[in-house]
Amino acid sequence: MPSINDHDSVELLDDQDALQIIDQTKLPGSIEIIRLKTAEEIWDAICQLKVRGAPAIGVTAAMGMYILMKGFVSSHSSAGAYAGENERRFREAFEKYSEYLNSSRPTAVNLSWALKRMERALDSCPKDGNMTTADVLGRLRAEACAIRDEDVEVCRKIGEYGLTVLKPGDGILTHCNAGQLATIRYGTATAPIYLGQERGYNFRVFCDETRPLLQGARLTAFELTSAGVDCTLECDNMCASLMKSGQIQAILVGCDRVAANGDAANKIGTSVVAIVAARYGIPFYVCAPTSTIDISVPTGDGIVIEQRKAEEVTKMWYSSPMAPSGVKVYNPAFDVTDHDLISGIITEYGILREPYERSIAALFERI
Ligand code: MRU
Repeated sequence: MPSINDHDSVELLDDQDALQIIDQTKLPGSIEIIRLKTAEEIWDAICQLKVRGAPAIGVTAAMGMYILMKGFVSSHSSAGAYAGENERRFREAFEKYSEYLNSSRPTAVNLSWALKRMERALDSCPKDGNMTTADVLGRLRAEACAIRDEDVEVCRKIGEYGLTVLKPGDGILTHCNAGQLATIRYGTATAPIYLGQERGYNFRVFCDETRPLLQGARLTAFELTSAGVDCTLECDNMCASLMKSGQIQAILVGCDRVAANGDAANKIGTSVVAIVAARYGIPFYVCAPTSTIDISVPTGDGIVIEQRKAEEVTKMWYSSPMAPSGVKVYNPAFDVTDHDLISGIITEYGILREPYERSIAALFERI
């Protein structure tokens, strides 16, 4: 039986001109490894959540751009000097693919962040014929691999900083999946949990099932139990009862985009958890690589929230529909947690605290 630990959530198979992912829509029932080669396959895998979680989406887009441009060069006989018509056609194809992949999901800023990094790598290539298109592809490949490798490092650092706010034996509640599957390794919200496990902290982790797509049940509970972490699953509407019972000492969640004032968009239901945590005096931490912080958006009101299909709510997990035919459905994929409910934003550079406008701006001046 293969394990999710046998594979990274996203891998580059350069010799096969493909990306390889664990199809997360099939978990936990089966571990299916699929290959993506075309722009449509990559777009579809992101949109259908076969690969999901903000950092993993960014890595997929970056590696996808490399694979697509490699295909473009070989199918359009664009080998040779990177100059003149060759450069123009390369650039045009790059922009077309980048725009297309960027339209696959709107909320996680890591997608456009990774695509912009790939574009900057392309911009750094001189257009005077001193490089060949093969050299340019090499630079794109290196950038995509750097984005992947940095993600591992960043998540580990988030884990180290996250551990400083936790004590051995703590009960930790998490929502959705900000785990290994959503990144390359460690996860963001799960990084302190994995590091704590290496160091004998004996955490008790509680996973919200996360309606409607069940990322908590299907993915987080699955990856944590596979890793031997003490893990309990509960329905989303049980979080208040759980917090009131005294079993939770901290909340750790991931995020898809943090605004300049600290408002944080994450999986729908996260803000409910934050509101309940405030009621019971439980610290609520958002784990965010700096690639997830979007200082161009002043507040959460400016974050575009993805709306998804009604069927995800009415029938996706049932053998027959569980709602009257034609009922109107409200199905936003994310909500925004107001910054005043957040005890700290745990980044790879340390823990940001209120006032976030100031601490985020100071961090971005420094890096
Ligand atoms: O719709 P999803 O499954 O992509 O939503 C994912 C989340 O909300 C995660 O918490 C977020 O992307 C952070 S992943 C480290």
